[in-house]
Amino acid sequence: MRRFDGQVAIVTGGTSGIGREVCLALAAEGARVVVSGTDEARGEATCEAARAEGGIARFAGARLNRVEDCHRLVDGVLEREGAIDVLVNAAGVFEVGATPETAEAAWDRMSDVNLKGLFFTGQRALTVMAGRGSGVVVNISSIGALVGAPGIAAYCAIKGGVEALTRAWAVEFAPQGVRVNAVAPGNVETPMNAQMMARPEHLATILERTPLGRNGRPHEIAGAVLYLAGPEAQFVTGASLVVDGGWTAQ
Ligand SMILES: NC(=O)c1ccc[n+]([C@@H]2O[C@H](COP(=O)([O-])OP(=O)(O)OC[C@H]3O[C@@H](n4cnc5c(N)ncnc54)[C@H](O)[C@@H]3O)[C@@H](O)[C@H]2O)c1
Repeated sequence: MRRFDGQVAIVTGGTSGIGREVCLALAAEGARVVVSGTDEARGEATCEAARAEGGIARFAGARLNRVEDCHRLVDGVLEREGAIDVLVNAAGVFEVGATPETAEAAWDRMSDVNLKGLFFTGQRALTVMAGRGSGVVVNISSIGALVGAPGIAAYCAIKGGVEALTRAWAVEFAPQGVRVNAVAPGNVETPMNAQMMARPEHLATILERTPLGRNGRPHEIAGAVLYLAGPEAQFVTGASLVVDGGWTAQ
């Protein structure tokens, strides 16, 4: 018996980085995984990798900047799979910019996906889960929600919203048997920050500042997501699990 046997899981941002590893881990643990993202070729590649490990996965493309698309994704899964047991909100956009230089468009690009899209995808899924009396949501926030860093104030503020939303949803949906938690990653090697990490001086600063002395790997975040989504965490809701090599501890 695997941890997610027979369960249907949607993973937004499942075509890349952290979301991709979450898809592979859920599929390996028996879930029927709906891999969502904007890039079909990458989505199909994720599904292929999941199947190679004996899992079940299919791609569902969605741009989560618009409410209708968030709802359409959830409705489509419900129609095709008949249930939604797990939603992992991993889709995200990251833009660097000092506060004086942050344009409205950059704020909108990040908040539309990272917070608004997450809210309206969750809204639909939570309504379905609450109606059925069970379900789990895991939101990917960031240590940027917990500690400041120069040049990413807008991202930090928006991820702070994800943490607040996690707690609010946990309290709102607990009476209906639905759990909502977050994982707050530190610096993880994914396409999102590959350019930044390719700058030796930047990488050196990050590694020096990280007690464990290295960046995280996507599968290490996936491990935390599966714990929160799974049966071992049945008494855990409204929590944020920091996975950051000790960054926020010092
Ligand atoms: N990599 C890190 O160091 C790090 C640290 C903290 C938090 N995070 C968060 O983890 C999550 C995953 O990031 P990642 O590092 O794997 O990045 P990534 O760039 O590898 O993946 C981002 C995913 O989001 C999806 N996405 C982007 N715009 C979208 C849109 N408009 N509609 C739907 N999907 C869209 C992409 O298709 C992709 O699947 C994000 O929420 C990110 O903010 C990442």
